[in-house]
Amino acid sequence: MNNDILLSARDIEKSFSGVKVLKKVNLEIRRGEVHALIGENGAGKSTLVKILTGAYQKDAGIIRYNDTEVELNSRHDAIKLGISVIYQELSLIPTLTVTQNIFLGREKDTAGILNKKSMRKKVIEIMDYYGLSVDPDAIVETLSIAQRQIVEILKALTFESSLIIMDEPTASLSSKEAESLFNIINNLKQKNVSILYISHRLEEIYRLADRITILRDGKNIAVLEKGQTNPTDVIRFMIGKELADTSGLGRMRRNDKNVVLKVNKLSCKGVFADISFEVHEGEVLGIGGLVGSGRTEVLHSIYGAKKYDSGEILFNGKPLPSSIIKNIRAGIAMIPEDRRNQGLIPLLDITRNIAAPNYDRLSGRNIWVKAKEELAFCKEAILQLDIRPNNPEIQVMNLSGGNQQKVVVGKWLMRNLKLLLVDEPTAGIDIGVKEEIYNIIEDLASKGVAVIVVSSDLKELLRVSHRIIVLRNGRIIKEFNDGFVSQEDVLKAASGITREEAEQFEQ
Ligand SMILES: Nc1ncnc2c1ncn2[C@@H]1O[C@H](COP(=O)(O)OP(=O)(O)OP(=O)(O)O)[C@@H](O)[C@H]1O
Ligand SMILES: [Mg+2]
Repeated sequence: MNNDILLSARDIEKSFSGVKVLKKVNLEIRRGEVHALIGENGAGKSTLVKILTGAYQKDAGIIRYNDTEVELNSRHDAIKLGISVIYQELSLIPTLTVTQNIFLGREKDTAGILNKKSMRKKVIEIMDYYGLSVDPDAIVETLSIAQRQIVEILKALTFESSLIIMDEPTASLSSKEAESLFNIINNLKQKNVSILYISHRLEEIYRLADRITILRDGKNIAVLEKGQTNPTDVIRFMIGKELADTSGLGRMRRNDKNVVLKVNKLSCKGVFADISFEVHEGEVLGIGGLVGSGRTEVLHSIYGAKKYDSGEILFNGKPLPSSIIKNIRAGIAMIPEDRRNQGLIPLLDITRNIAAPNYDRLSGRNIWVKAKEELAFCKEAILQLDIRPNNPEIQVMNLSGGNQQKVVVGKWLMRNLKLLLVDEPTAGIDIGVKEEIYNIIEDLASKGVAVIVVSSDLKELLRVSHRIIVLRNGRIIKEFNDGFVSQEDVLKAASGITREEAEQFEQ
């Protein structure tokens, strides 16, 4: 008997319609350990998590928990054992309070009916013990994503979970919110709760994880101990090849070709004010800034998805209508940040999803010609973006999270574009494909497309942008348009303080 091991999964197998996606996978989690699970898009991470939480049933293999063999036939089985999961699509009911959500369906316990007061008290007790903080009486819909995550964690803790699984928890958090999540994770660890942590952000993995399990194509590649490894090795294990080093500085350059988009004194009360900039043919304009600085809202206003109060937007010299449909016809596309909820039709296959906004381009009256073109077009996208599995007929809902993202990216990138708006181009996309996406953006720009990229990933912003404007509190605070720019420069402009100052501030 090994008291140190909380969970051990051995030789786990899982197939979907005859395709094996987990092949004798092993995972072992110690008590009080932060264990990272990493791998490319489609490697099998989420599938393994679903098996551990009773959402899917394994085809073969053995799971032991607290040194006892267990069968996880439902979510309930997992919760009863002490395994909870915090998904990106949070499962709370917006109109109820924090306390009501935490005890939903459990208002009764074995001791009888828990009254409101004792439930509230329990929530506060748990918060104190684990160092969490959120208003127990707040209505959930008034909370930020980060606060809702805390509610989910609290919920898990009231179930006395000994293992909390987090599947890409920082994907929609600002860096400050992510920072407080890391603190929470460390507190949980101190109290001997184990965390299984899934993320594509290697910096986070390095900071948090005691051990890392790496999957590739549904197989175990390695289990690494902290300090035993370096980022280059991890990436090589993950994608099976080396990546070119793309860190360092961004080189800014001006472009004096035609102005494709001119934004003039654009304002939207309480969101952004006095935003003016131009984007030229073949130019990639980066917009930096912290989450909440108004970047996404500016993009949405240009696209026609959000109203603004004053100012004007000119597209090739003419006022841009605030109509998404007209804008799409004019050659404007937007790849939204929230790709899980926007822009996919889960029940349709990859081909239909990619072709959907492109029917104007796919020519021919003859429906058969169209179908053929549609397929060729889709295959091209699958190839370029390395969408896996590479079968155009797979329903999008059966793709892994990251591969779904690629489909959304694909359907817009394959168009005849004049102006492309991209919000967080590689969120949720594995490191091996990031570079592909940067190349596609570069390629579009070299063909004359004007591109605006919003990104919180500073390395990415520097990598793709020809020019960068930085927003702070809804205003343009800085423009970088020549010479070399560092991550530090952008961060400083975005936050108004230096990194050292920010770190001190946090302590
Ligand atoms: N319900 C399903 N039906 C059919 N295939 C599925 C289903 N769920 C997952 N798959 C397939 O299993 C494979 C592994 O997917 P999984 O979601 O586990 O990947 P992942 O490692 O979480 O990737 P990502 O980083 O993109 O989220 C993929 O090829 C996916 O298409
Ligand atoms: Mg996943």
